[in-house]
Amino acid sequence: MSNAKKSQVNILDIKGGCQLEGEVFVRGAKNTVPKNMVAALLTSDSCVIKNIAHIVDVDIMCDMIEALGSNVRFTRNHSLQISASSLAQMPLEQTWAFANKSRIPILTCGPLLARNGHAIVPALGGCQIGDRPIDFHIEVLKALGARIEIHDTHLEMFANRLRGAKIRLPYPSVGATEQVLLSSVLANGVTELSNAAIEPEIMDLIAVLQKMGAIISVDTHRVITIHGVDKLSGFNHKALPDRLEAASWACLAAATKGRIFVRGAEQMNMLTFLNAFRQAGGAFEITESGIEFWRADKTLKAMALETDVHPGFMTDWQQPFAVMLTQANGLSVIHETVYEGRFGYIEAFKSMGAQIQLYQRCLGQISCRFANRNALHSAVIAGPTTLRGAEIHIPDLRGGFSYIIAALVANGASRLHNIRLIHRGYENIIEKLRALKANIQEE
Ligand code: EPU
Repeated sequence: MSNAKKSQVNILDIKGGCQLEGEVFVRGAKNTVPKNMVAALLTSDSCVIKNIAHIVDVDIMCDMIEALGSNVRFTRNHSLQISASSLAQMPLEQTWAFANKSRIPILTCGPLLARNGHAIVPALGGCQIGDRPIDFHIEVLKALGARIEIHDTHLEMFANRLRGAKIRLPYPSVGATEQVLLSSVLANGVTELSNAAIEPEIMDLIAVLQKMGAIISVDTHRVITIHGVDKLSGFNHKALPDRLEAASWACLAAATKGRIFVRGAEQMNMLTFLNAFRQAGGAFEITESGIEFWRADKTLKAMALETDVHPGFMTDWQQPFAVMLTQANGLSVIHETVYEGRFGYIEAFKSMGAQIQLYQRCLGQISCRFANRNALHSAVIAGPTTLRGAEIHIPDLRGGFSYIIAALVANGASRLHNIRLIHRGYENIIEKLRALKANIQEE
């Protein structure tokens, strides 16, 4: 079934109560591949990205690259070839086709400004997990010399050639760090970015840019220095495996008392997750080709954790982990410090019988930006609870996967609406669940 067709399937019926066992394959990460695709727009040479997952976010980027007058095609063995020998700014009306669909369009400013001196970006999409402002992006582009007009429906910007600058981010934002990297590689002079994000996804983008001819150093204390160059060339790159998807399957295995081998999962970018998983009573075995996950003992253990920027516990691991903790013995505490609105999915869990209380207070050690914002950003989870099947509407990507876990753990049947959101970031989710012998039915 094509991705377009898949994303029309929007309801999933799940019968809970079985242990999921078997193997799934994890390919290139949703949060790196589209950025590698943007990097390919910085050169007129041909670029190849391997290990591509067929997910909606990659499809959106393919459509956008074509709309910008460049060429993109899937080749054998899950590879993608991009050739941006010409890069034309699409007319404003055409950009609206990409409005509210994804966060990636704003990252095309760097390539468009470098090659055309002009960029138009539609209103952004992505998961509704808080305000998700773009002020950092605007400030860094201004600092690099872009002239920006802010309209209700879009941003328009101009620059002859961006110039290097000293920039300090108010928070180590992944997207704003990528913005600086993609905009300053072809700028005139040196850019020094402090308080930068240093997630593996950022390192992967730096690796791609280095292959293209960029000079970028990652220094101590979150400083990244970019020496602007005049020209970049093509690259050939194997995409980083999706550590968020791998962690989702790990939590599914432990929550359902099953055993799942995640082929393609890599230990190095999951160290923090693996520590927490083990503390909560999960077990794993690392091999060269992947990681196998299961429960160490009959019962899982309650624990306290805080999400944070890398090398902390990722905010995207939080939701599947929270469902797993509903099955743990005792009181668990989660302090979400990256997004102020990332517990929106909890209400539906409660309707399934989960005992979770949300707090505006910071229940943790990390000094957090949401302390005085009336944001429900701490959760206390009492377990173990017997969940019961329910009819639920999926609010966002990671929340969606956690509902699948909850429905598989629950007694009885559940109906999940809005399943198409999950295709944004999880490849072949239905086929993978079937391979693990989940009792599911699409509508
Ligand atoms: N922020 C601002 N202003 C900005 C940009 C960010 O205030 O201009 C704030 C955000 O509101 C948030 C914090 O900074 O509170 C961190 O946001 P960041 O910019 O790091 O997030 P992002 O780049 O928009 C990416 C991933 C997210 C992931 C975060 C954190 C992509 C497409 N998205 O978002 O992934 O949670 O980094 O690691 O790469 C997901 O995969 O489900 C997902 C939401």
